[in-house]
Amino acid sequence: MTKDDVKKVFKQTHERMNKVAQEFPWENKEAYLSWLAQTMEYVTYGTRILALTAGTFPLDQTPLTARFIQHATEEKGHEKLLINDAKALGMNIEKIAILPEAEAFHKSVYYWIYQHRPAVIMGWILFLEGFAIISGPGIHKRVEAAYGKKPTSFARVHTNEDPDHVDKAMDILDYFSAYELKDIIHGLELYSSLYTNILKAVPANLKKQSVAA
Ligand SMILES: [Fe+2]
Repeated sequence: MTKDDVKKVFKQTHERMNKVAQEFPWENKEAYLSWLAQTMEYVTYGTRILALTAGTFPLDQTPLTARFIQHATEEKGHEKLLINDAKALGMNIEKIAILPEAEAFHKSVYYWIYQHRPAVIMGWILFLEGFAIISGPGIHKRVEAAYGKKPTSFARVHTNEDPDHVDKAMDILDYFSAYELKDIIHGLELYSSLYTNILKAVPANLKKQSVAA
């Protein structure tokens, strides 16, 4: 596996994700609120996951430890954006049901920490950063048109992130072995599938609720 293989899978993954993101009913308030709550599920644990991962690299991969620590500090407090976005729409985010798909998305990440395979978590990060940069602008445009600026701060902050975040993440790939690059690809593919499940489960569960009502 080479860096170019990772870049190729990254491109294919996010082309597919962009289509999945476009199909999500962003203008449906209940669906958007549920997405905020499902997002909150992994954002809350995100800084801890990054910090724990930082500690797993051996001494010859110290630049990776530094990268994960820095990333953890950058993500600090982002859950407050989600709480405030829901509040601006009159909803307490803690009252929204968390779907099993959202639990699986971040809780499975701990497995890679315990198995000492942090490269898969690098794939998780490349998935999330790529999604923010590639699918994020379209999502932000739609939710801001539907709800205004106040309830859409999380989408705004993550869309306006430096697009060179992904370039920087690609540069850091030089510190991974060929075997680990394979793990990164696995992470990208695995977490794009699990995130697709979240985006499909949100509207499916709203339908179920309305049928039950
Ligand atoms: Fe964030």
